[in-house]
Parts: sequence; structure tokens; C-alpha cells
Amino acid sequence: MNMDTFGFIFIVLTIISRVDPAETTSRPTAVPTRKPTTPDSTQPPTAGEGTSSLTFSLRRTFESSMSDPTSTAYQSLAKEVTREVNKGYRAIFPLTYSRCVIRSFSNGSIRVAMSMVYHNKTVVPTGMLVEEALRDVIISGIIDLNVNVSTISTTTNTSGGPTLKMTITTAFCLPFLLTVFKGMLSST
Ligand SMILES: *[C@@H]1O[C@H](CO)[C@@H](O)[C@H](O)[C@H]1NC(C)=O
Ligand SMILES: *[C@@H]1O[C@H](CO)[C@@H](O)[C@H](O)[C@H]1NC(C)=O
Ligand SMILES: *[C@@H]1O[C@H](CO)[C@@H](O)[C@H](O)[C@H]1NC(C)=O
Ligand SMILES: *[C@@H]1O[C@H](CO)[C@@H](O)[C@H](O)[C@H]1NC(C)=O
Repeated sequence: MNMDTFGFIFIVLTIISRVDPAETTSRPTAVPTRKPTTPDSTQPPTAGEGTSSLTFSLRRTFESSMSDPTSTAYQSLAKEVTREVNKGYRAIFPLTYSRCVIRSFSNGSIRVAMSMVYHNKTVVPTGMLVEEALRDVIISGIIDLNVNVSTISTTTNTSGGPTLKMTITTAFCLPFLLTVFKGMLSST
């Protein structure tokens, strides 16, 4: 036990600090209980905010009414998708992620296009990290949406700061970290 365990914990802490540097300054247990100021805001991004776009497919049957933003089918699906995606991204980027906005639903099975909004342009994570984060919160069961993980794709204009760049190690360890997050979420 010992050296290996300490070494591993050290590596994990290093990874956490790479994913979201500010995170190391707050108590980890504060993360799951953080109350978002605007829980389900879907306001379009303002000029100062950073954004990235995200698309993925749900393994569900598309109905034509889902392409109409005024329909109840669209609105209830939008509410469900934004709630779950917010839950996942707030766990991973608690200090920088703000909200997400549905752009459209289309046929295939249900193709979702959305915008992810961050506090400002300097904290937008790299596209690879945005994709990996969604994959990991799905695999670890933090969010409950039937996403086909091989369809997740993102585009971003702003590159994240150096500390937000994805590393192979981070990608490898995120599922483990998320399992820990999930444990903390369910123990509260
Ligand atoms: C969605 O696409 C499938 C396969 O192309 C098609 O069979 C189905 O009718 C389409 N659904 C709608 C609502 O357009
Ligand atoms: C961007 O947002 C982060 C997180 O809220 C904050 O720490 C940082 O100071 C902001 N930077 C600018 C340039 O506003
Ligand atoms: C997931 O998406 C891929 C690529 O579009 C497709 O080939 C595959 O059949 C899908 N899997 C499921 C389970 O829907
Ligand atoms: C990227 O920037 C271009 C021009 O600055 C803009 O037209 C485009 O919509 C942006 N794309 C995204 C995904 O924000």
C-alpha cells in the first residue's frame, strides 16, 4: 500500500487540477451540492460568454413535431436533454460551465444539436474534452439519456487555456473520477 496509493492519489489530484484548476481550491464535497444560480436557464449566450457546439444522437424514435420548437414534444424533450446535460457538465466543469441551449432536433434517430455556454471565452474547454466529458458522464451513469456515444461531436472556435487541454491521462482517468463524483452525489 503506501507509495503506490499515495502516488496514485497524487496523480488523480494533478489530473483534477488540470481539468479545472480552480477546483483544487474548493472542497471537493462542495461540488455536488453547488446550487446553480439559474438551474434551467436556456438564455442564448451573451457577447462575453464562451460557447462550443455539441451534437449527438439519441436512440429514440423521431417524431416530426420534434422539429417544431412550439410543440409539446419538442419542449418536453428539450427540458429533459438540457436537464441531463447540465447535470453532467456541472459535475465536470463546476466553475466554468454555465448552461446549454438546444439548437435543433432532427431525424436520425433523434439528432440533437446544442450550444454549450461557459462563463467567458477564455474558459471554453477543447472540443475533445467536451466530447470526452459527455461520453464519461454517460458511461458512468451520471446522466440518464440514451445517447449513442459514437455519434458525439463538437466544434469550438476558442481553444481552451493550456490548463484545460485534454491529455491522454485525463481521458483515461475521467471515468474513475466520475465514479467518485457519482458516489458523492448519491451519498448526499
Ligand atoms: C425518420 O427517418 C426514418 C429513416 O429514414 C424514416 O423511416 C422516418 O419516416 C423518418 N421520420 C420522420 C418523422 O420524418
Ligand atoms: C473567466 O471565467 C473564469 C471562471 O468564472 C474566471 O475565473 C476568470 O477570471 C474569467 N476571465 C475573464 C477574462 O473574465
Ligand atoms: C450509433 O451510431 C453509429 C453511427 O451513426 C451507428 O452505426 C450505430 O448503429 C449506432 N448504434 C446504435 C446502438 O444505435
Ligand atoms: C466560429 O466563428 C465563425 C466566425 O468567427 C462563426 O461564423 C461561427 O459560427 C463560429 N462557430 C462556432 C461553432 O461558434
